[in-house]
Amino acid sequence: MTGRDDPATVAEQYRSEDNLRARQALWTNLEGDNAPVVLARILESLEPHDVLEIGGGQGELAEWMQTALGARVTFLDQSERMVELARARGVLEARVGDAQDLPFVAESFDTVVAAWMLYHVPDVNRALAEVARVLRTGGRLVAVTNSLRHIEELRELFGALEGFEKQFNAENGEAILRRQFRDVERTDAEVVAVVDERETLEAYRRSLSYETRPLPDEIAFPFRVHGRTTIFVAAK
Ligand SMILES: C[S@@+](CC[C@H](N)C(=O)[O-])C[C@H]1O[C@@H](n2cnc3c(N)ncnc32)[C@H](O)[C@@H]1O
Repeated sequence: MTGRDDPATVAEQYRSEDNLRARQALWTNLEGDNAPVVLARILESLEPHDVLEIGGGQGELAEWMQTALGARVTFLDQSERMVELARARGVLEARVGDAQDLPFVAESFDTVVAAWMLYHVPDVNRALAEVARVLRTGGRLVAVTNSLRHIEELRELFGALEGFEKQFNAENGEAILRRQFRDVERTDAEVVAVVDERETLEAYRRSLSYETRPLPDEIAFPFRVHGRTTIFVAAK
């Protein structure tokens, strides 16, 4: 485990929502469908009823699943602040917890959502075994992660070729999921962010909990960044 993946670093990264917000701001002027839009379409098609979202962050997706899909949503995140934000959005079944040790009885949910979080979990196989345990037979895990080539233009600028997604990514995710799930489907989502301001790139760089180098003095704007994300749907 490198510095960026150790539990204390991950806890510090998500102690508040500021880092997540700084990274989300990159995806404002877009060419193509942003991954959250593709994810929403997939979730709609699954018609979930009893959902557990793990590592749900600020709770936007959980709130949307409640209001737009009419699902009963249970929310879990290891960050107290994220749980507080989810509750403030009306996601009342929200609690602090660890994806590796889910505090729910077996076969409680028809859908588990793990969006951009499995790469942070120290033992991803243990977390997936827990997900499989709390899913009903025929239930599905929707797991979202990025490609190793996600934001490659930024990685070159920052001199940081490996991102957060090192241990669970678009390239190795299917093989990891197949250890515990009988059927795995994938949807790849590609989008381009068109960035006009240096501060957007600076804020993104400051939000990372791994070492980066300062931005070069000269950057040609608009600066284009490719987002490469995969949404896996794995059936129990
Ligand atoms: C990159 S954020 C993603 C948040 C949200 N799913 C989204 O898409 O915006 C990762 C989230 O996973 C949470 N997290 C990291 N490791 C966790 C663990 N072992 N158990 C539960 N939550 C965890 C963090 O606190 C953070 O809120």
